[in-house]
Amino acid sequence: MNADDPLAIKEAAEIIRAGGLVAFPTETVYGLGADACNPLAAARIFEVKQRPSLDPLIAHVADRESAARFGNFPKSADVLMRKFWPGPLTLVVPKTDLIPPIVTAGLETVAIRVPAHPAALNLIRAAGVAIAAPSANQFGYVSPTEARHVADQFCDKVDLILDGGRCAVGVESTILSLVGPRPAILRFGGVTVEELTAVLGAVENLTAPSKRPNAPGQLTRHYATRTRLQILDEHQKEAMPLKGERVGLLTLFPRNPGPFAAVEVLSPTGNLREAAANLFSALRRLDDAGCDRLVAYPVPESGLGVAIMDRLRRCSA
Ligand code: TXA
Ligand code: MG
Repeated sequence: MNADDPLAIKEAAEIIRAGGLVAFPTETVYGLGADACNPLAAARIFEVKQRPSLDPLIAHVADRESAARFGNFPKSADVLMRKFWPGPLTLVVPKTDLIPPIVTAGLETVAIRVPAHPAALNLIRAAGVAIAAPSANQFGYVSPTEARHVADQFCDKVDLILDGGRCAVGVESTILSLVGPRPAILRFGGVTVEELTAVLGAVENLTAPSKRPNAPGQLTRHYATRTRLQILDEHQKEAMPLKGERVGLLTLFPRNPGPFAAVEVLSPTGNLREAAANLFSALRRLDDAGCDRLVAYPVPESGLGVAIMDRLRRCSA
């Protein structure tokens, strides 16, 4: 349903309150939402996503006041919330008793964010609850940035899909833990490292791949296409298709298409923000193009390029 339609929001909110599942747009990717305080509803998220129950969910709230009902925020969080909320920053803090263990996978901490998408905020406000939501894709696959990506996988498994168009940011939120002695990045995302260090000074980097991750985004292989993807150096020969081989190419800016079966250009002008917004839909199109393998040229690792390369590395692992 059209996320601009107040009646659609009303219906979606009723479904959430009744313990159902609603897929909804955020500025990063589409989420698969349920009432964060209803353990049975949250359990359905894990079931539908086929997600290991060890992986905690993010609680989405509409403002700082509601955030404070679900998490105990240190003083140091103030400046972050003021500067980056609503927006693609998730904060991990000690949880309150309102959040059931299934949402946090038994952890004493909870991940909370205020999404910067009017439909998401309208839905949260209309439902009057916090909405637990992972990305609305089957566990391990490329995240959805359009409503039809969700429909393709979950059409009959969710109660309603709110269509809010294409996600403007296109990669997931940055996850920052405020639990340890110093702020630590658990996942690169829509708020850049540069933006965080400008506010916090140094931040720790705890994003290293891990077999027992704090965040599934830390799994070595995640965000993965079915078709094998390889990241190349600029002049690597393996890029070139062998005779009869179908190879798909992912590139930041336009190149000579050469003998590739499919080419996805992330940004005609090489703009990393635009590239992030296009990343997941480009990966899905390449994955659906019937290629034998996919190759990607690296993008510069500054700004949103850090999150893009993080996703590409995990996809290619
Ligand atoms: O942009 C986003 O964050 C999107 C939209 C829908 O908001 N959501 C999203 O959710 O990416 P998901 O479930 O795909 O990723 C959430 C990440 C997971 O890697 C999870 O492990 C981590 O957040 N996480 C949740 N609670 C945590 C906690 N208490 N401590 C550490 N990591 C946590
Ligand atoms: Mg995800």
